[in-house]
Amino acid sequence: PSSDEEEMYRPNFHFSPKKGWMNDPNGMFYYNGYYHLYFQHYPDGNTWGPMHWGHAISTDMISWKEQPIALYPDELGFIFSGSAVVDVENTSGFSVESKTPVIAMFTHHDMEADKAGEIIDETQSIAYSLDEGLSFTKYEGNPVIKNPNIPDFRDPKVIWDENRKQWTMVLAAGQEIMFYASKDLKTWKLLSTFGEGIGNHDGVWECPDLFPLPVKGTDETKWVLFVSINPGGPNSGSATQYFVGDFDGKTFTIDKNFQNELAKEHSFWVDHGRDNYAGVTWSNVTTAEGGKLFIGWMSNWLYANEVPTEKWRSTSTIARELGLIKGTKTYQLISNPVKELNRYRAQKFIVTDISVEGETVLTTSKTVSLSMTEINFEIPDVAEEGYTFILSNSQGDELTFGYDATEKEFFVDRNKSGKTDFSDKFTDRIAKAPRMESSSKLTGKILLDKTSIELFYDNGQTVMTEIFFPNAPFETLSIESDNEKFTINNLEIHELNF
Ligand code: FRU
Repeated sequence: PSSDEEEMYRPNFHFSPKKGWMNDPNGMFYYNGYYHLYFQHYPDGNTWGPMHWGHAISTDMISWKEQPIALYPDELGFIFSGSAVVDVENTSGFSVESKTPVIAMFTHHDMEADKAGEIIDETQSIAYSLDEGLSFTKYEGNPVIKNPNIPDFRDPKVIWDENRKQWTMVLAAGQEIMFYASKDLKTWKLLSTFGEGIGNHDGVWECPDLFPLPVKGTDETKWVLFVSINPGGPNSGSATQYFVGDFDGKTFTIDKNFQNELAKEHSFWVDHGRDNYAGVTWSNVTTAEGGKLFIGWMSNWLYANEVPTEKWRSTSTIARELGLIKGTKTYQLISNPVKELNRYRAQKFIVTDISVEGETVLTTSKTVSLSMTEINFEIPDVAEEGYTFILSNSQGDELTFGYDATEKEFFVDRNKSGKTDFSDKFTDRIAKAPRMESSSKLTGKILLDKTSIELFYDNGQTVMTEIFFPNAPFETLSIESDNEKFTINNLEIHELNF
């Protein structure tokens, strides 16, 4: 594509690298007013290659400033995914002149071993920063965890265990998660494993995360374990499953009721769309309510290397706040865009009590841009009424999404959304997601950027994230329903300003 086309797909408010390839978010931590985001990066090419850690900083998780590359591949291998922590008490001993060290822990992936066909090619290493995450020095004692003869042994996520005054680390290890502990981030002891016979095992287990969350409206706290899996996602390819339980400093025990529901549902997903993968949470920060902050890679290994951008590839999801509720069946994760996004609301349009007959135009790009947009809506009775939103342009591209009342399912159909022929995996189905909420009133939040839609239903109980590549920006937003009488209350459209 020409550079015009390039910029046509450059998102308005999602992070994308200036040039080169990006995949998983890595090493996110908050310190001294800055949110740090590192990412799997190949700066010299637009497809996956020798992995570095790229770096970006932000004061609000929305507007990002790219920084110099933080970690380069070395003789032990490529720098795969991992995490970073602020070592406030200098447990690692890396501090110099009382500077607070930031420690990154990551996987070294030995490409020579990989190429030679050896499946044991991954070890865990650390690096420290004495300039608040701008530059890192690799530890001379790397690797700090050798491979105990396990394939797909990677993606360490470290957290501070305040009760036991030690570091806990979760690591993907074959088809399980391994739990480790350390006093100094250099010497690690295996505590326990989790996952055999539990959850979805249709793909490789990757990028775990472990964190406590308060259960809304109670004084209970539960532990949540994330495991990304590829393939095996609910709508094919890559996706992130989660488990709810307890963690006693050694072992993660899945909640009984959650386990019963898991037996029926097979898996619980952080996001049902095809484009939210390998997401983990920020270290050293929670929201005022104790929620965790999350960001994911907005793509899917099924077609990530083929999407139609050339100078750069892939974007991140919007940063999200995670919470836990007691849902209709069991504990349920909820995710919503971070509140900081509200500060970017510019023009606002409110339409109340819209009665819909046939395909009804709600707004057009003459009034409000449809690619830097937040839309909040409320439908009084979805028990009876399914609906379909339609985004369209004069090129004949269409993105449709809505709710099927008979199946009690949300859907996103990007089959006619523009450029799709780069991969037949991109349009091999309509993405679907079960509705978790049983009330007949439905609320939804829609975030639209140039190439992405993020849908948050029922206050974040069901989430769908999907990307698309229209031949021209979408110009019209319409809605239709099969019913004769259909009403939407309070359609609130915000044009965002960046
Ligand atoms: C997940 C993943 C990780 C790995 C990284 C390599 O998307 O496969 O498991 O560390 O990507 O880039």
